[in-house]
Amino acid sequence: MAPSTHFKLNTGARIPAVGLGTWRSQPGQVRQAVSFALKNGYSHIDAALIYGNEHEVGQGIKDSGVPRENIFITSKLWNTHQPNVAEGLQKTLDALGTDYLDLYVTQTSSFFSPLGQTQQSTNTTISSSTGQSDLFLSNESSALLPVNPDGTRSVDRSWDQSETWRQMEEVYKAGKVNAIGLANWSIPYLEELKKNWTIVPAVNQVELHPFLPQHALKEWCDEHGILLEAYSPLGSEGAPLMSEPAIQEIAQKNGVSPATVLISYHVNRGVVVLPKSTTENRIVSNSHVVPLSRGDMDVLNGLAVQGKAKRINTPLFGWDLGFDDWYKQ
Ligand SMILES: NC(=O)c1ccc[n+]([C@@H]2O[C@H](COP(=O)([O-])OP(=O)(O)OC[C@H]3O[C@@H](n4cnc5c(N)ncnc54)[C@H](OP(=O)(O)O)[C@@H]3O)[C@@H](O)[C@H]2O)c1
Repeated sequence: MAPSTHFKLNTGARIPAVGLGTWRSQPGQVRQAVSFALKNGYSHIDAALIYGNEHEVGQGIKDSGVPRENIFITSKLWNTHQPNVAEGLQKTLDALGTDYLDLYVTQTSSFFSPLGQTQQSTNTTISSSTGQSDLFLSNESSALLPVNPDGTRSVDRSWDQSETWRQMEEVYKAGKVNAIGLANWSIPYLEELKKNWTIVPAVNQVELHPFLPQHALKEWCDEHGILLEAYSPLGSEGAPLMSEPAIQEIAQKNGVSPATVLISYHVNRGVVVLPKSTTENRIVSNSHVVPLSRGDMDVLNGLAVQGKAKRINTPLFGWDLGFDDWYKQ
């Protein structure tokens, strides 16, 4: 059977199964990549304020000529805006040049307190030399990436995440976004948030691939009607997972590329997938999803427990998630 082209959110809305990622998509390239993708079969763009390129993503959307209502746009509440969700959202809407989002997710479960910004640069945009933030690995300092006097990331662990979620529910009820969700939430954190949510998150966007299948998280989210979205499906920068022999073998057997196997893996297990590319032929090929046999899925689902378990994105500020055990399940 052909894999789904769309999944259903718990709001009833349809979400395209494959979306174009935009993290580390360079200024000068991302505009063209977004426009090209939308003109070549994509209808789903995954953006974020912290990527520092939402303005260009918005220009790409406009250039494409595709009507706004035919595009599913996701963006993310950045950590510094957790106490003022409406303000963070407005910055994103302004940058993208749209008056609503199809999906707005909290980027992490960490609040970065601006009070720690003693080394803040005067630049109010993202301050890295490439013009985009290395979200997970950098220790740079800027208004969006505040640090404490000792140079550590200014994470306020006392901040109540249920207050952030309450404000997410507010922007949803105000009609500014058609769905709200989470990113980078593990089961212990979800259990905590569940005590106070009045709207169940529509998605949880997390790192997912055969080295990090997160089976227990998938089961928990399935039980609660939360759709998983896979980020870094190719292993992030440079697509390192493509060189895994087991993946190459499945690719050869099916007459497709390793990237197609890694992307199709998610759609075959009922998960949205967000491959990033600014290379035109890859943008096109990454949108092709093939059916994978039960046997192939078993191999892919089993790689992590057979010693390949690996998380690629581990931020210096830490996730606070008790990673050691749960992610291998
Ligand atoms: N919520 C979060 O916290 C979070 C975190 C990370 C990522 N994300 C989202 O998920 C998206 C995807 O994750 P990612 O950007 O980390 O990495 P990814 O999609 O796993 O990999 C991107 C890398 O693979 C290369 N690539 C793409 N297609 C390829 C192909 N067919 N053959 C060979 N190489 C290929 C890209 O190069 P070229 O561009 O040069 O083609 C780029 O270097 C992000 O862009 C972002 O939208 C969200």
